[in-house]
Amino acid sequence: MSKLEQRGARRDRFHQKAKREGFLARAVYKLEEIDDKFGLFKPGARVLDLGCAPGSWLQYARQKVGRDGVLVGLDRTPLKAVPPGARIEVGDVMTIDVAKLKGDLPGFDIVLSDMAPDTSGVRSMDQARSEALFERALEIAVAVLAPGGNFVGKLFQGPEFKHLIEAVRARFEVAKTSKPASSRQISIEQYVIGTGFKGPSGGAP
Ligand SMILES: C[S@@+](CC[C@H](N)C(=O)[O-])C[C@H]1O[C@@H](n2cnc3c(N)ncnc32)[C@H](O)[C@@H]1O
Repeated sequence: MSKLEQRGARRDRFHQKAKREGFLARAVYKLEEIDDKFGLFKPGARVLDLGCAPGSWLQYARQKVGRDGVLVGLDRTPLKAVPPGARIEVGDVMTIDVAKLKGDLPGFDIVLSDMAPDTSGVRSMDQARSEALFERALEIAVAVLAPGGNFVGKLFQGPEFKHLIEAVRARFEVAKTSKPASSRQISIEQYVIGTGFKGPSGGAP
């Protein structure tokens, strides 16, 4: 991000709102908007958040799932502040042992991925990296979700966009996309939402 962009980001109304409301990042309002539309969370739910740093989605998830809910986060960068009660794994999503994420849990009810690649400025390269992260997040979701579970994954719009939405549609009762108001208009990011996971063997090609 250039200095000019950094200054712009600080002035951004969602950035200011997050600061006022005690959230660790403005990204929280993307998840809030998606949740308002799709009703992802239930009290007591088990949530896996891939690419969870600095932690605003985990903060939001805790509010929604309550004290009985379970939060597990993964990021390649350690969190400066861990939201209360969350278990954090530090590692790369591409190489992480999925069994380690699951631990003793029977499965997750929700898998979130707000992962984004370090952008190079070369659009096609950034799209390809985003697609790889999204595919991996979906692969993990299919491995750990309980039937009926929900998935949210960030994806840069690119050549594989339609194909990847179809991959979600094959595994979930409903697949939709969303571009939340707090997602910068200039950004090519979208979120793909799958609700009602069909189960590990349901919808497999
Ligand atoms: C936009 S931030 C997530 C913000 C988060 N949702 C929040 O609300 O605080 C994207 C995160 O994805 C992580 N990430 C990107 N590639 C990753 C990878 N290969 N493995 C693990 N984490 C990754 C980055 O380190 C970064 O913290």
